[in-house]
Amino acid sequence: MPERIFYSKLFYMKKEAYQFIFEVYESLDELTEADKKLLNKAREVTQHAYAPYSHFRVGAIARVTTGEMVIGSNQENASFPIGLCAERVLLATAASLFPDVAIEAIAISYHNENGDSKHPITPCGICRQSLLEYEMRVKHPIRLILGGLQGKVYVIERAALLLPLSFTADDINT
Ligand code: THU
Repeated sequence: MPERIFYSKLFYMKKEAYQFIFEVYESLDELTEADKKLLNKAREVTQHAYAPYSHFRVGAIARVTTGEMVIGSNQENASFPIGLCAERVLLATAASLFPDVAIEAIAISYHNENGDSKHPITPCGICRQSLLEYEMRVKHPIRLILGGLQGKVYVIERAALLLPLSFTADDINT
């Protein structure tokens, strides 16, 4: 029987870090007038949601670079997975009404009918992908202003920051 020889090999690896910095405000009062207006409108837009299943109403509003506003709210369905998040309703509407126009900022708020609406929520994973691709498509960052009906507000410089090591069109086309 042949002797089995095991070779050991040393692999070198390096570690890389991803640092994510965002702004935190104690309340809407600390925002600029433009951001304050946008977040207040997002709070209003929560009333447009159709959320009879989750009772979690999400409202989003975008300011596009030409100054127009576009809104989106979550739209649910008895077949739960079909439901649409506010962010993707907004992006589809923006792309349909103002094709190729960049989005400057989106404010997102929510009204949780079963609990508090006091802390910022961040877009879900699917919406992060959609937001990132919108930024890439029109080559412009989207500032995110996130807050509940009251409480702290997060401002994130560009949506792509929420999805490190993302899979994009660049990966397919190389
Ligand atoms: N939802 C959004 O619209 N946006 C988010 O960022 C998180 C979740 C919706 C989906 C569903 O209709 C409800 O909130 C509860 O998950």
